[in-house]
Amino acid sequence: METIIKKVNKSDIDKEVIEQAGQILKDGGLVAFPTETVYGLGANALNEEAAGKTYAAKGRPSDNPLIVHIAEFEALDKIVQNVPEKARLIAENFWPGPLTMIFNKSDVVPYGTTGGLDTVAVRMPDDPIARALIAAGGGYISAPSANTSGRPSPTAAEHVAADLSGKIDMIVDGGSVEIGVESTILDMTVEPPMILRPGAVTKEMLDKIIGEVTVDESLISDKSTEPPKAPGMKYRHYAPRAELIIVEGDSGETVKAIKQIAYEQVRLGYKVGIIASNETIGEYTVGIIKNIGSRENEKTVARNLYKILREFDDEEVDYIYSEAFPSEGIGTAIMNRLGKAAGHHVLAAGAITKLQKYRSI
Ligand code: TXA
Ligand code: MG
Repeated sequence: METIIKKVNKSDIDKEVIEQAGQILKDGGLVAFPTETVYGLGANALNEEAAGKTYAAKGRPSDNPLIVHIAEFEALDKIVQNVPEKARLIAENFWPGPLTMIFNKSDVVPYGTTGGLDTVAVRMPDDPIARALIAAGGGYISAPSANTSGRPSPTAAEHVAADLSGKIDMIVDGGSVEIGVESTILDMTVEPPMILRPGAVTKEMLDKIIGEVTVDESLISDKSTEPPKAPGMKYRHYAPRAELIIVEGDSGETVKAIKQIAYEQVRLGYKVGIIASNETIGEYTVGIIKNIGSRENEKTVARNLYKILREFDDEEVDYIYSEAFPSEGIGTAIMNRLGKAAGHHVLAAGAITKLQKYRSI
């Protein structure tokens, strides 16, 4: 299939393109579009067959449910059984925005969309192109991230094209996204509500509005024996092709440790990538060094993360070493995604530099 690619300007949206894309969605086709978090692969959420096409295009396991996107709060009633008071409060504060809530589904939502679950995930995105497209496509658009399953989520239309060209009907190119990591997922079917995936809307922000919010144990501890409650979180998502290793420690020690390992790996003939920051980039000497932004500005780090992982894929590096980043604000989401991409392979910088000292005696 030939994939149509159309550019749309956020501040002057081309109505004809949106109409065309909306018609494709209504006819059961697939359209990738920008949201403020990552690009989504849109389909009619109330059409079981369209859900099937989504799973096929992404190569996604069909037990991994899709998020239904709406353009206005009133649309919620039709697809859920009831809207708890707390959900109303949260919607007032964070919708439209990078937040997904889980509800008990109504009968109009097919099991094909929810991966066989009786619950449905719903999000109202803020991006104006996304909202126009959802409305034009009938108001209920399922949209997983528009990547091939297992690859980093797309933060620009080029990433979508690299993964899905020839497999979907259309890509609406709205430029690079704002946030760069997927939405926070909050389960409203349990009390207190539980965060199943961290994102730009943090636990602290939610606590302030509705009191206590809990966090899925499997997100906090590697040792949790419970599977993650969001089915998608159990997969080694966001995986770059290279082996990714996070190096943790104080800044000086981290740089020293990464330099040492990179030097040895390069000497052994491996192609090495390094994820560095504004503060440290000048200190690295070997390997392919990429700047993810200032450690002080976690928003920039979030925006650059998936793009950098894709660049390293394209350059076919064997190993990627990344500094660890502060866990404040969206930092929790950054370290969650980085940790998953690394298969939770984390090294302590102090141990490496000590080992090196011992070896050189
Ligand atoms: O920011 C985002 O949320 C992006 C943009 C496109 O909106 N979408 C996104 O979708 O990240 P996806 O499919 O890549 O991730 C959806 C996650 C998966 O981990 C899935 O298991 C979980 O949401 N999920 C969906 N429905 C669920 C449900 N009913 N119960 C628990 N988890 C659910
Ligand atoms: Mg995804």
